[in-house]
Amino acid sequence: MSHEHPLLSKTNPTTAPTVLQVTGLNVYYGESHILRDVDLSVAAGEMVCLIGRNGVGKTTLLKTIMGLIPARSGAIAFGGKPIITQSSDQRARLGIGYVPQGREIIPRLSVKENLLLGLEARRDSDRRKAQQAIPNEILELFPALKAMLPRMGGDLSGGQQQQLAIARALMGRPQLLVLDEPTEGIQPSIVLEIEAAVRRIIKSTGISILLVEQHLHFVRQADRYYAMQRGGIVSSGPTSELSNEVIQRFLAV
Ligand SMILES: Nc1ncnc2c1ncn2[C@@H]1O[C@H](COP(=O)(O)OP(=O)(O)OP(=O)(O)O)[C@@H](O)[C@H]1O
Ligand SMILES: [Mg+2]
Repeated sequence: MSHEHPLLSKTNPTTAPTVLQVTGLNVYYGESHILRDVDLSVAAGEMVCLIGRNGVGKTTLLKTIMGLIPARSGAIAFGGKPIITQSSDQRARLGIGYVPQGREIIPRLSVKENLLLGLEARRDSDRRKAQQAIPNEILELFPALKAMLPRMGGDLSGGQQQQLAIARALMGRPQLLVLDEPTEGIQPSIVLEIEAAVRRIIKSTGISILLVEQHLHFVRQADRYYAMQRGGIVSSGPTSELSNEVIQRFLAV
């Protein structure tokens, strides 16, 4: 699905170019200071996990990256270019795919129609080329969806809806996929399926992933983590160095 992709090659994260760079980001809801001087980066082909307890600001950070909430100060660069003044639609077309917390599948549209909505994120010329077909690569990543294309989105299980939401985001051919708690409220066996699908995405497409996640097993699949507390990043590093102390402080395990 990504042979035209400029950042396709599976690169070493330490030398790979930076895809997303967030610097000194401050965000308020009214007078409440929610995000405090947040710095975060994601390299090409890298999977980065953001952890933290309920209400610390994880979703707010992802929404600000997507342009759904304005920043009071700070910078966001994608592929080296500032995007802070771009709308969320523009950011999607630049190559940031987003799966919001709660998934937001359209229940009264079929699985296929839900997937085709993902084409909205493509540049116009690419959208025309796509001709309203679901690429095999996407169906191969999510075999469970293949048999369900005519079913109503609302009739799928929570885990299937989550897979549909991720597949829909991939329809836009993003360079960076942003996932907000894809396993929230999903039974353990399906958590492993979603985890495996995300691993397959990274392996087969080489895109970057920024993930908010609570399941330790899933968190450990990431290359690096950032831990957030009261709107600030308080710890970060390779997930291979995740200490028990960090796990206990920042994950609801
Ligand atoms: N629209 C809003 N208006 C005002 N305050 C908000 C709004 N949305 C979120 N908040 C507050 O901002 C803070 C951060 O919320 P956010 O949703 O980013 O947290 P989170 O880390 O994603 O939490 P969770 O783990 O529960 O998803 C919380 O205190 C929340 O109550
Ligand atoms: Mg959240």
